[in-house]
Amino acid sequence: MERLELKADDRVLILGATGFIGRRLVTALAGMDIKLRLMARSPSKTRGMLPEGKDIEVLQGDLMKNQDIRAALEGIYCAYYLVHSMGGKSIARGPGFADQDKKAAGNFKDAAGEAGLKRVIYLGGLGEKGQGLSEHLSSRAEVADILSSGKTAATILRAAVIIGAGGASFEMLRYLVERLPVMICPKWINTRIQPVAVKDVIAYLCGCLVNPDTAGKTYDIGGPEVLTYRGMMDQYAEARGLAKRIIIDVPLLTPSLSSYWVDLVTPVPAGIAHPLIEGLKNEVVCRDSSIDTYVPITKTPFKEAVKIAFSEETSGPGVTGF
Ligand SMILES: NC(=O)c1ccc[n+]([C@@H]2O[C@H](COP(=O)([O-])OP(=O)(O)OC[C@H]3O[C@@H](n4cnc5c(N)ncnc54)[C@H](OP(=O)(O)O)[C@@H]3O)[C@@H](O)[C@H]2O)c1
Repeated sequence: MERLELKADDRVLILGATGFIGRRLVTALAGMDIKLRLMARSPSKTRGMLPEGKDIEVLQGDLMKNQDIRAALEGIYCAYYLVHSMGGKSIARGPGFADQDKKAAGNFKDAAGEAGLKRVIYLGGLGEKGQGLSEHLSSRAEVADILSSGKTAATILRAAVIIGAGGASFEMLRYLVERLPVMICPKWINTRIQPVAVKDVIAYLCGCLVNPDTAGKTYDIGGPEVLTYRGMMDQYAEARGLAKRIIIDVPLLTPSLSSYWVDLVTPVPAGIAHPLIEGLKNEVVCRDSSIDTYVPITKTPFKEAVKIAFSEETSGPGVTGF
């Protein structure tokens, strides 16, 4: 049987290292003295985020270019895939983010197979496939399927909203609740969700790397509470010591209108807000808890996660990339 254990000399590649999750993972893995290589479209974005005295290589590269991926994979044992293509100031659809994400994942899968990469660890989204799943969540599931279909053993982690400073979904929540004592919301406000603290996500990502039994498996990861979006807003306000928010359901509010409105109130551009808002109708709750056997952690309660995120906004890595 092929060896899957991480050895001291193995180097790990992080794709999406400049993102909300990626930059925290760099800090965590470097703290474990794991040798790293980061592939970034703009290496200048890694300035100031690299811990000193650690073995970290930074390579310029884009997942749309096969030669970049091949160069990044040389001598790599495991790669983290922490990438998505949503973004932009407008909701107008150019080449869709789902097409780009499909192409990027396909390019990576093929190059990883050729390079003989042993493992890939992907952080995607919760939500069950089928009619009614939003384009964003369907795309996250499609990337999981593509990465799992290659020769490399893929570990798939599925998460709902991740609570941490600088995360697009968290920033929408934060600005809406902080700025609006009265809110009108579509009926998604009653959809169930299982948010998870970013430090727990990082612990799961690191835990899967050091536990070879997680190779080739899919896990749902979530915090200790299942809430609704309304409950999440209520608990956010409580955690921050704000007055209870008045939330009025307006069933006819469309995702497009909501996203322009979110664009006015929050720093999250409509190009990200629209696909995220479209996904709010889909329940995102863990269906399986088997990750607890392989990576046992103490799960951070939602309100504590909000307090940590808020303290980071003013003191730590809470710089939004928007
Ligand atoms: N944030 C959440 O609440 C949440 C919840 C559940 C799951 N997830 C999953 O977690 C993963 C990471 O998300 P995130 O929130 O960290 O996203 P993010 O902050 O937007 O970061 C995305 C990263 O992808 C990189 N990227 C995009 N296109 C690329 C390309 N063509 N080639 C190379 N790199 C490319 C970006 O690089 P640039 O700096 O060059 O743009 C950036 O580093 C995603 O798979 C996402 O679905 C996130």
